[in-house]
Amino acid sequence: MEIKIYPTRLEVARQFASFLTEIARSGDEVHIALSGGSTPMVVFEELAANFREEIPWSKVHLYWGDERCVPPAHPDSNYGMTDKHLLSAIDIPEANIHRIHGEEVPETEALRYASLLRENLPKKYRVPRFDLVILGLGEDGHTASVFPHQMQLWDSPAYCEVARHPFTGQQRITLTGKVINNAARIAFLVTGVGKGEKVQDILQQKGDFKTYPASRVAPRSGELYWYLDQEAASGII
Ligand code: 6PG
Repeated sequence: MEIKIYPTRLEVARQFASFLTEIARSGDEVHIALSGGSTPMVVFEELAANFREEIPWSKVHLYWGDERCVPPAHPDSNYGMTDKHLLSAIDIPEANIHRIHGEEVPETEALRYASLLRENLPKKYRVPRFDLVILGLGEDGHTASVFPHQMQLWDSPAYCEVARHPFTGQQRITLTGKVINNAARIAFLVTGVGKGEKVQDILQQKGDFKTYPASRVAPRSGELYWYLDQEAASGII
């Protein structure tokens, strides 16, 4: 595991954008699962502003680690956020964008997306393998859309599951631990003082860390990176 700490969220975004560029330049086709959340949004803006020409977008395939069950134009849509801050500004073939259809019946869509992963991604250990999975960390310890009250979804034998937000009841489609932990690389992007306690619990295996889905992230044969700003890292420095 590598823990990278930068002074500000913008610096996290800059450094991570360079890391992503390196990965995108390696290999013939690169499969990346994106995340929703406030830190990825800044990364997307950084990629759009300063990495448009640096990244060979035509060989980058984009997927989502989770999606809210809403239409793509809805303000909650992770795809919609990505489209607004990144996709609309770069030259990427439409065929390389593999969004989760939040507007469809969730159970049917979870099955469709699992089949799409099975068809599109190379396999390792007979499970689809992303080159990179980007994850956020919720203040309750959730990651992707696996929340603490639904830890069983992390251990599902399926590649995708339908989850429910604990407070709003909003349905979401999420990748499971099976496919997330099979990635070649996983990067957590975590910023802000609100995340400090959970980052500390997870990285130092303290408190209730076992109840946090994010503590189950451990790529089977890959690399795990934590990109933190100083605020999120306040408990570990
Ligand atoms: C989502 C996310 C989720 C997110 C965390 C952190 O769609 O909700 O994928 O896992 O990354 O909740 O979000 P913030 O960066 O906004 O705190």
